[in-house]
Amino acid sequence: MRKIKILGLLGTGVIGGGWAARALHCGIDVIACDIDPKMEAWIRGAVVAAAPSLEALTEGMPVPPRGILTFTTDATEMAARADFIQENVPEVLQIKHKALAPIAEIAAPDVIIASSTSGFMPTELQDGMANPERFLVGHPFNPVYLCPLVEVVGGAATSDVAKQSARAFYQSIGMHALMVRREVPGHISDRLQEAMWREILHSLNDDIATTGELDESIVYGPGLRWAVMGMNQIYMIAGGEGGARHFIEQFGPALDWPWSHLKAPTLTDDIIDRFVEGTAAQAQGRSVRELETIRDECLVAIQRVLAKHDIGAGQALNAFERRLRNGSEA
Ligand SMILES: NC(=O)c1ccc[n+]([C@@H]2O[C@H](COP(=O)([O-])OP(=O)(O)OC[C@H]3O[C@@H](n4cnc5c(N)ncnc54)[C@H](O)[C@@H]3O)[C@@H](O)[C@H]2O)c1
Repeated sequence: MRKIKILGLLGTGVIGGGWAARALHCGIDVIACDIDPKMEAWIRGAVVAAAPSLEALTEGMPVPPRGILTFTTDATEMAARADFIQENVPEVLQIKHKALAPIAEIAAPDVIIASSTSGFMPTELQDGMANPERFLVGHPFNPVYLCPLVEVVGGAATSDVAKQSARAFYQSIGMHALMVRREVPGHISDRLQEAMWREILHSLNDDIATTGELDESIVYGPGLRWAVMGMNQIYMIAGGEGGARHFIEQFGPALDWPWSHLKAPTLTDDIIDRFVEGTAAQAQGRSVRELETIRDECLVAIQRVLAKHDIGAGQALNAFERRLRNGSEA
């Protein structure tokens, strides 16, 4: 596997910025490429803003010297120099195809090209691309610099070597690579999130609850447990001594009623207003940057607690520390 010294980023918005912050903190140089030259100032600001929480997350660990960030609007320059390319352009198939084709022509065949796409399948993205066997989906979660999950999905043409190399790279920057068995739209986690979001939109539309009340129903209850164990393990415990089987006996019948809807409501202006005005009220005048800081401080604290119990995202943090220590002893 090629040693990854330079990460190339195509598209440097919210997700590109997150990849940059994580990689730089792990000692990897980053060439960030965006068609919009104004994104240089943005990404430089984003990595500065992310640095304190990354330092807090890895406090006491032998983290290598920080990588160097460069910016270009020339995708061919980025593709010629990068050892691994992560694409983060907008979630529009034509934009992705148009952006990926030229970099695949230029990047050496052993350079992996991964897409951060939230929902497209790798087979539809690698169609017509040069050396499609090194292309895959590496779907991260925002904030990329603090959430360790990355879903690795191969398409019809993707090689096993590419998938394993991508996994090794993501692990080397502290991530948990979930190897998705089969490509489906939305991979794994976004299908779950979309199901929940659909119900949120129905609840807004049917005037059942505000965005704030819906979020209360998550953060004081189920959301608190999800970071420790996933929904399946939590439901097994909720079955008491009878475990998962008893849980199904108790709650299985509700699936036939059903409590929830399968199709999302039509996105009317009214629903959009309720979503936008509701979340603005919840923010209580705080800016997105201020909310990000609160979120990030809590994400760091939660992961450090989970690491003490070697569970969930804390396991990824412990594995990262072991890799850093083994690397520094070598
Ligand atoms: N935002 C999230 O929570 C999230 C989470 C996981 C994955 N994703 C996925 O990541 C990708 C990027 O999402 P985002 O939220 O960062 O979007 P964004 O709109 O914040 O950023 C996209 C950037 O791509 C740039 N761009 C557009 N065309 C380009 C081109 N041809 N070459 C180079 N740069 C180009 C834009 O100028 C912009 O800066 C999407 O596929 C999205 O589905 C997003």
